[in-house]
Amino acid sequence: MVVTQVPERITAASTAAEAVAAPIVRRPLPTVGPLAGRVAIVTGSESGIGRETARALCAAGAAVVLNGRRADRLEATRQQLEAAGATVAARVADVTDYDACEALVETAIGEFGRLDILVANASISQRAYFLDMSPDVFRQVLDSNVYGAVFPLKAALPHLLESQGSVTFISSISALNGMPSGSAYCAGKAALTNLAHTLRLELDGTGVHFGVVHIGFTENDEDKRVLDAAGQPVPIAYRKPRWQKTQTEVAAIILRHIRKRRQRTVISALGWLIAIVHGNFPRLGDWVVLTSMRRLRNFYE
Ligand SMILES: NC(=O)c1ccc[n+]([C@@H]2O[C@H](COP(=O)([O-])OP(=O)(O)OC[C@H]3O[C@@H](n4cnc5c(N)ncnc54)[C@H](OP(=O)(O)O)[C@@H]3O)[C@@H](O)[C@H]2O)c1
Repeated sequence: MVVTQVPERITAASTAAEAVAAPIVRRPLPTVGPLAGRVAIVTGSESGIGRETARALCAAGAAVVLNGRRADRLEATRQQLEAAGATVAARVADVTDYDACEALVETAIGEFGRLDILVANASISQRAYFLDMSPDVFRQVLDSNVYGAVFPLKAALPHLLESQGSVTFISSISALNGMPSGSAYCAGKAALTNLAHTLRLELDGTGVHFGVVHIGFTENDEDKRVLDAAGQPVPIAYRKPRWQKTQTEVAAIILRHIRKRRQRTVISALGWLIAIVHGNFPRLGDWVVLTSMRRLRNFYE
């Protein structure tokens, strides 16, 4: 596999003398840009918004560890960014597996010597009504959105405390209200808001930033798939292109959110409308959703 591995550690040396002598090979960090000298992990960055966020972080001077579950696609993304001059490494890791998350963080430390920024972006979405969903599929979607953020954070936190770093949970405008056919996804994304708030309180004074970005409709990679009620991958429901932001636009907003260490960023006017209506006029919000369910059924199914 061509995907970058963690360099051999001193502890792997066979004798104490060798251990003292063995140099730790670390790659130099970029020196230009507002994030020069900083190291980021973006989970689920082999594709989509995660890939473009990694690209934006690199353009701002950060070194980035890319992640995903598919070695071929991850390696293709790594090569693409490296060819564009970015300083990147990659680690295949299922972020719902805690040991794999430790290996992911170890890649950042082994390759670059530090960790400053975690973007918890990896996620599986769904196109399935709760009544039809098998319990296993519900768990898979929920786990990818909750433990897929919790486990990388848990593994990264000691290093982020050291660097007074930044954590951004990538969420959705559907975490601001319920969305038919998205029960486990919405529940998982909503959990991240409370997690970020609690950690902000527990770790007050440590200098670590915890933020949430609520993303609205965004262009998707053509091969993006979500799970149906039986757990089969299916294309995402059709959205009119004029409703969608580009991945590059969204990545630029995520970058600004990280640099300004914002607690909450809601993307798009529609996102703010949803936040305001559901926060202040919940019955009106429900009426809008129920009406859209009757008139725009394809939107959900
Ligand atoms: N696109 C939108 O309209 C939209 C709207 C609101 C919010 N968002 C949020 O934006 C983020 C990115 O979405 P996207 O549209 O770019 O979707 P995407 O292209 O499907 O990206 C998700 C990435 O996460 C990876 N992933 C999933 N489960 C993983 C796991 N357990 N371990 C490691 N990697 C995993 C996927 O790769 P593999 O499955 O191959 O591992 C994929 O690379 C997500 O958090 C999503 O909820 C997107």
